[in-house]
Amino acid sequence: MSFGKASVRDADVAGRRVLMRVDFNVPLEDGRIGDDTRIRAAMPTLELLRERGARALLVSHLDRPKGFDPALSMRPVAARLSELLGSEVRQAPAVVGEEVREMTQGVGDGEVLLLENSRFEPGETKNDPELARSLADLADVYVDDAFGAAHRAHATTVGVAELLPAYAGLLLQAEVENLTAVAESPDHPLVVILGGAKVSDKMGVITRFLDLADSILIGGAMCFSFFRARGIPTGDSLVEEEGVRLAAEALQLAESSGCELRLPMDLVLGDSFSAGAERRKSDGTEVPDGWMGLDIGPRTARAYADAVSKAGTVLWNGPMGAFELEPFAAGTRAVAEAVAAAPGRTVVGGGDSVAALQGFGLAEKVDWLSTGGGASLELLEGHELPGVKALDDA
Ligand code: 3PG
Repeated sequence: MSFGKASVRDADVAGRRVLMRVDFNVPLEDGRIGDDTRIRAAMPTLELLRERGARALLVSHLDRPKGFDPALSMRPVAARLSELLGSEVRQAPAVVGEEVREMTQGVGDGEVLLLENSRFEPGETKNDPELARSLADLADVYVDDAFGAAHRAHATTVGVAELLPAYAGLLLQAEVENLTAVAESPDHPLVVILGGAKVSDKMGVITRFLDLADSILIGGAMCFSFFRARGIPTGDSLVEEEGVRLAAEALQLAESSGCELRLPMDLVLGDSFSAGAERRKSDGTEVPDGWMGLDIGPRTARAYADAVSKAGTVLWNGPMGAFELEPFAAGTRAVAEAVAAAPGRTVVGGGDSVAALQGFGLAEKVDWLSTGGGASLELLEGHELPGVKALDDA
């Protein structure tokens, strides 16, 4: 597949104002950045723009404020950016308006200005044409490196792209190419590991990959929707009711597909959702009342790791259990270690599995670690992302 969109590498940016959409929607803990991966991931495009003498105006959303909220200002991001770039990044007090316009006029070649949280503007999530126009008036060129927000048709991702020459940033392009390649040109066997709480979040990926993958390995609390659909007692485990119907549908689709849909064979149970819970292993998949399944068991972990070690391509999205509670982290750790050691191509998406890999110190061992949550799932489901579609064709 060819990416098909104009690349920032081919943009004429010297001495021009470039509005660069980034996804700096980073976790904040007491006003400090918990994980700066998304900021670091935008550095190659930003460095390229600076080397070429562009005047970069960065814009991103942060969380989901309803209007102005000082707790969700981009200030901590400006501080982190300044550290990463080794020079001070100024921060505008708003997204658009006269004061912002004046500040953008003062940005020199190779300099960077960070605009405020785009969601402080009520028109952002409505893709308001007036907001898009005001944003476009600030710049000569638009560059989109916000892969994580490319599934949102907002003023900073779509509206403004339609009004300026619009190029793909290096991260956005690499994300689309790496994730698309899993579906379009995998080396077989293609093994897909899916976990997390809800079948409904992953159903689009399950149905698509039942036609493409050699096996889909299910873990995480979503397996209890599958067990319930098969009439297996799930005790006090987390069960998504809507997921039970979807799981039944997936099991039926799997029968006529050439793909093996595998469920855990054993579990680790706890008597409550806490690190101090009483814990026991269950050799089968029945969960008695008073207990909940909080991790895949060791036999399942070994079987899944074995499948990963023989795969030509591995796609992993979603943890195998409550890995944030140490006594229930073993299944996710075993899968993470297997993915890190796999000889085939490995692609990991979804905030939790990425966080798990980082927590285990294995992130560097994976071929592609996506910065997108919802965006990576939508792309894997086979949808065209509005933020990508809006860019100029190559
Ligand atoms: C994400 O974190 O997945 C993106 O930044 C999109 O955020 P949103 O779901 O609030 O639009």
